[in-house]
Amino acid sequence: MKTRSAILALLASVALAWSGGAAAQAASAPAPAPAASAPAKAKKVNPNLPYSEKGADTCLGCHDEEADSLTFTTAGVFKTRHAHRGDARGPFGPGKLQCEACHGPAGRHAADGKEIDTINSLKANSKLPVEKRNEPCLDCHQGNARTAWHAGAHDRERLACTDCHRLHVERDAVLAKTSEPEVCLRCHNKQRADFQKASSHPVRHGRMGCSDCHSAHGSASASTLNKPTVNQTCYSCHADKRGPLLWEHAPVAEDCTLCHSSHGSVRAALLTKSPPLLCQQCHSVAGHPAVARTGAALPGGAGGGQIFLLAGSCTNCHSQVHGSNHPAGAKLMR
Ligand code: HEC
Ligand code: HEC
Ligand code: HEC
Ligand code: HEC
Ligand code: HEC
Ligand code: HEC
Ligand code: HEC
Ligand code: HEC
Ligand code: HEC
Ligand code: HEC
Repeated sequence: MKTRSAILALLASVALAWSGGAAAQAASAPAPAPAASAPAKAKKVNPNLPYSEKGADTCLGCHDEEADSLTFTTAGVFKTRHAHRGDARGPFGPGKLQCEACHGPAGRHAADGKEIDTINSLKANSKLPVEKRNEPCLDCHQGNARTAWHAGAHDRERLACTDCHRLHVERDAVLAKTSEPEVCLRCHNKQRADFQKASSHPVRHGRMGCSDCHSAHGSASASTLNKPTVNQTCYSCHADKRGPLLWEHAPVAEDCTLCHSSHGSVRAALLTKSPPLLCQQCHSVAGHPAVARTGAALPGGAGGGQIFLLAGSCTNCHSQVHGSNHPAGAKLMR
């Protein structure tokens, strides 16, 4: 363990020495000079403070193995994409601010390890408001997936990027399908229960992640789905249900959740209710009585048994409940 971290630290410092020149220069100029070379937006976190003398090298003098804990290693950040030195967009790219690209100007803190409040710790217990904590991240990441961030429920609920993301670890759990749900389910307890139900989308087996259907960063659709509507989201995997069909069943084309729970259900096939009740929410009981009103309707009764009761459930006859392509499939029976 120790050797591994030592090698890492070594790798880190070699790489820093290689690219450090420009960064250190940018950083060591007296304030407010860094404004010229630093990306203009990176300064917003704490505009009046100086940057450290030698960038990451300054920090690593104190934030070394000794300071690491079971849950946090400073050097972990060097195993991530953020540490790519060739990437001019990244914190460790040529001329960039390195640690301080995320933590803000830490010149004062680095002088003696005090004045912790002057830096953006990005931690949940930070005194900075969430917008300030998210600022450095959004400065680099406002494109593509984050364009809807400010429209999403998570921004409205004032989540920080770091409520889901870990930046000092080689593998950020929320980015992998198998470990992502655990991150989400920390807050979404109802959904945790749903995915344990007998019939459920195979999230708990690691075959699906929440982000197969949801955009964690927000989207324009209800429940921040990946696609504009529920059905389009479902079709992205269940393409056979899209049709076109000769005989459509109206509710199927309208909204799958009229009959299915999206996450999990105690009934087979994720159904919200079991047939016949499921069907009788919309279809009159009168035509095909599915409950015995008199003894005569029961099997062996005077009436010889009601055919609709004998058949058990609507779907035994109307098996093509999602619609039919059979020329004679108008009643969804074939
Ligand atoms: C002179 C030693 C020293 C230097 C240099 C130093 N730090 Fe620190 N840093 C500390 C100490 C001590 C703490 C407090 C640790 C604790 O309480 O767990 C700390 C805490 C932090 C924290 C956590 C703050 C919090 O609220 O928990 C961050 C983030 C941090 N330092 C970043 C940096 C960065 C970035 C640099 C380089 C620009 C840097 N430090 C340079 C000593 C130093
Ligand atoms: C890409 C952004 C980013 C970069 C670059 C970065 N950090 Fe961090 N750092 C974070 C985030 C986010 C946290 C909050 C805890 C976490 O996510 O693991 C953090 C937490 C910390 C902490 C507090 C740990 C604790 O739990 O008390 C220290 C100390 C720290 N970073 C030091 C550094 C140093 C030193 C560097 C440069 C070698 C650096 N960071 C580079 C994002 C970054
Ligand atoms: C100086 C710019 C910069 C800053 C600041 C920054 N990032 Fe990044 N980030 C990047 C670049 C560049 C990449 C690599 C993108 C790529 O390879 O396409 C990246 C990658 C990522 C990834 C994907 C990692 C992976 O393994 O695929 C995540 C997640 C991420 N950043 C989150 C954050 C968060 C959260 C913060 C704020 C704590 C932050 N970033 C701050 C530039 C930055
Ligand atoms: C609710 C949890 C959550 C929050 C909060 C969150 N993310 Fe993410 N992020 C994810 C998930 C899940 C993925 C992987 C799936 C995906 O790309 O949508 C991801 C992927 C990423 C990626 C890499 C892939 C890409 O889209 O480029 C970046 C960069 C990123 N997030 C940045 C951010 C930033 C910046 C913030 C804060 C404004 C943030 N995230 C807040 C869950 C979250
Ligand atoms: C730190 C807590 C937290 C984490 C972690 C978290 N969420 Fe949320 N999420 C919330 C809160 C709070 C709301 C708003 C209240 C609600 O609808 O439950 C919300 C709302 C949502 C919504 C409903 C959006 C809407 O418009 O109705 C979805 C979908 C969602 N989250 C998915 C996710 C996914 C996927 C992840 C993991 C990648 C995740 N959440 C991680 C706290 C969290
Ligand atoms: C198969 C697609 C799919 C997957 C996978 C999925 N969801 Fe959903 N989720 C939906 C749909 C569709 C809705 C909106 C319709 C509804 O309420 O059923 C929704 C609604 C939500 C809501 C809004 C509140 C609610 O229950 O109506 C939250 C929160 C949520 N999902 C969280 C999660 C989390 C957390 C995960 C992963 C553990 C996840 N979802 C996985 C499809 C999915
Ligand atoms: C990312 C792909 C994906 C998306 C999107 C998706 N599903 Fe699924 N669905 C699956 C997988 C995988 C299974 C499990 C199949 C298996 O176990 O063989 C499944 C199973 C089902 C089942 C059958 C469950 C059972 O027990 O027989 C139903 C019903 C279902 N999905 C409905 C939906 C609905 C409704 C939506 C939209 C809200 C949706 N699915 C979106 C992948 C997806
Ligand atoms: C009118 C109610 C209803 C609607 C609306 C509905 N389903 Fe179903 N679905 C059912 C019933 C009932 C079953 C169980 C069929 C059985 O037992 O043979 C089922 C089974 C399934 C299955 C598993 C068996 C199979 O046929 O593959 C999937 C997947 C599925 N539905 C997806 C969807 C999707 C996607 C939508 C939306 C496009 C949707 N359903 C809309 C009633 C409905
Ligand atoms: C959300 C309401 C809703 C639910 C639930 C529902 N249906 Fe339907 N169903 C309709 C509508 C609307 C039509 C179209 C009626 C029309 O065209 O006059 C229809 C049409 C039908 C038809 C064709 C009728 C005809 O005259 O051509 C059959 C058969 C049928 N449904 C069976 C079922 C079965 C079996 C179930 C349960 C698995 C079910 N439905 C659940 C709304 C529903
Ligand atoms: C024993 C087989 C059988 C069962 C069980 C059955 N149906 Fe039917 N259903 C039929 C037949 C046959 C027709 C066609 C009648 C006709 O064409 O006149 C039909 C027609 C319909 C129609 C079209 C309207 C009409 O009267 O023509 C609807 C709606 C319908 N059934 C719904 C249901 C529902 C809901 C259930 C469950 C409560 C159900 N069916 C159970 C055989 C069945």
